[in-house]
Formats: sequence, structure tokens, C-alpha cells
Amino acid sequence: MCSGTVILLIAVACEDLTMVKIYYKEQVYEMQSNESVLDTLLRNETGAPFACQKGVCQSCMMQVIKGEVPKRANEYLISKYKEQDCFLACICYPSEDLTIATFVKPKRPSRPATKTKAKLPQF
Ligand code: FES
Repeated sequence: MCSGTVILLIAVACEDLTMVKIYYKEQVYEMQSNESVLDTLLRNETGAPFACQKGVCQSCMMQVIKGEVPKRANEYLISKYKEQDCFLACICYPSEDLTIATFVKPKRPSRPATKTKAKLPQF
């Protein structure tokens, strides 16, 4: 066995040891290299919500229950969501295992119906 083969075997073994796992809805998903959290969830057909996949629409917003998300994954969220440990799964490339949950944005309270009569123009 040449030294190149040994180095390759060590690299493969180390990669297996550092495989990041996502714990979501009582299942465990192993991330592949260069995958976002959303990519992992979609590859495993979890039905995770998403739209733009570019960190813009916030459809993929999730909550981290355990673990650290990279700063980039939540830096553009408003403080209200940061305080609830929210992050965007489509731009989240964690270096450690995460336990996450789907985040449901609270609905805006509907405006009370106003009972004003519309004024018609007088001719
Ligand atoms: S899918 Fe749009 S922000 Fe993640």
C-alpha cells in the first residue's frame, strides 16, 4: 500500500467521524459535504417548508433546540426571531450536530372591521 492510499483512507475515516447530524421531527439525518440544513431535509423528503433557497423569503425558518448555528444563518433576521433561536435552513451550514424544529410565524392579528359608511361623491 503506498502512502497516498494511506492518506486517502485516513481522510475518509476522519470525514465519517465529523459527519454532522440533524435531529428533526424525531428522526436523524446525516448531512453530506456542502449541503445546507435545508438540502439535507429535502434530500430526505421531510416536507420541510421552503421557497427561494437563497436566504430571502424566510419560508425555511426553523428554530434550533440544541447546538450552534453559524452566524450567517440568522444574521439578517430581526431580533424578535433571533431571540427565539430562529435561523434560515437554506443558508445554514453547521459544523456540529443540531436539533431543530419547524418555526411557525405567529399570524398578524387581523384588523377590526370598521363600520364607517363610505361617502359617495355628491353631484
Ligand atoms: S427558502 Fe427562502 S429564505 Fe430559505
